[in-house]
Amino acid sequence: MKKKKIIINGPNIISGDINISGSKNSALPILFSTLLSSENIKIKNLPNLKDINVTIELLKKIGVNIKKENNNYIINSKYINNNTYQPKLINKIRASIWLVSPILIRNKKIKINKPGGCNIGERPINLHIYVWKKFGSKININKNNITIEIKKKLTPQIIKFNKISVGATITAILFSILIIGITTIYNSAQEPEIDDLINFLNKIGAKIKKIKNKIIIEGVKKLNGGKHTIIPDRIETGTYLIAAAASRGKILCYNTNHFFLKSLIKKLKKCGAIIKIGNDFINLDMKNKRPKSLNIITNPYPYFPTDLQPQFTVLNCISNGNSIIKENIFINRFSHAIELKKMKADIIIKNNTLYCKGKKKIYGNKNINGTDLRSTISLIIAGCIAEGTTILRNYNYIYRGYENVFKKFKKLGINIKKKI
Ligand code: EPZ
Repeated sequence: MKKKKIIINGPNIISGDINISGSKNSALPILFSTLLSSENIKIKNLPNLKDINVTIELLKKIGVNIKKENNNYIINSKYINNNTYQPKLINKIRASIWLVSPILIRNKKIKINKPGGCNIGERPINLHIYVWKKFGSKININKNNITIEIKKKLTPQIIKFNKISVGATITAILFSILIIGITTIYNSAQEPEIDDLINFLNKIGAKIKKIKNKIIIEGVKKLNGGKHTIIPDRIETGTYLIAAAASRGKILCYNTNHFFLKSLIKKLKKCGAIIKIGNDFINLDMKNKRPKSLNIITNPYPYFPTDLQPQFTVLNCISNGNSIIKENIFINRFSHAIELKKMKADIIIKNNTLYCKGKKKIYGNKNINGTDLRSTISLIIAGCIAEGTTILRNYNYIYRGYENVFKKFKKLGINIKKKI
């Protein structure tokens, strides 16, 4: 079958406004958490993304009743079956790890294969296993899959993470909300998506308090029904803001929340962007000026997000000055750098640190390849601002995290098209 590709003719100056979609990384844990209630739950602002659709398919396979009414989903997990072992679907997304805690609580046993995800480096699950073990689960790990079983009465625990993990924090929350007594989680992740999950769970009857990186959970007997609107996607917002800055253009992102992007907004202002914010919009204008280069260090929230590192790397490639980008979260998140060098970016990588010499221009290249979600979108940004034509293959990753991405880029005036 002929490979599909994207053709981008640059350079483009981004100008326009876009509506921000619901957050992928908030929607995913919230969808899995609905397994803990047996009443109707209505979710609004769920983005139409591949990872969301795989999750809905997985939940339906195990018997969850999911109906779509206009832009809302009505979910009821009262009756689930036992065929929770769905290796093909579990392999597709990292988020499938959040199936485990709810199914363990309901069925007392689950077999899973190690979850999939992007290839941004080793995706261990030792911190999730630590949580299940702490609550007394018996875990049998063999070559291809893991069987986890609860053999005794569950009692509340004190969870102390030795490393900050979004995923494991969510695993611990989902495991403990129906265990009577007080469970406390120390050194938890603090991403806004975790707050959104906690807000949702408290709406349907959970009793969770989060004070900075400590989460106190008072277990309840059961959860009720309710409704929730997913928060805006801060990484989608940040992606488009960075793209506009790199193109020396301007953009209005609406239906978003600037509060979740403090670290990025501070950086973009230092690059020379004029930024105006309102309660549901962020407006950026570069006034056609070349951005200034900036050093970036990725760290857990509220620091600079790893999910915006590839995009900011592209900005630094054409900014004025030299910069250093330190990736502290994932060990292999510079795959876009190899592709950017084909576009004449001046980049060197040493021990998970990227050294970049800003150049006035980068150049289109007809042999660019995507390798994961965020690096692929960063290569589209590079193609937008490069002189000449860029052809990008293996671009399907972007459907995992960017809703209506081609429509949005075209609305911003980008000369981009898909070709078979
Ligand atoms: C979530 O992944 C997000 N995914 C990621 O977004 C995001 O980059 C990441 O958090 C960090 O913010 C979803 O929410 C679906 P972690 P997660 O557990 O939970 C190590 C995107 O592009 N670790 O916070 O998998 C891990 O290797 C995706 O939208 C362990 O060592 O990330 C990493 O170095 C990419 N053992 C660090 O912790 C574990 O058991 C942070 O990972 C788990 C994680």
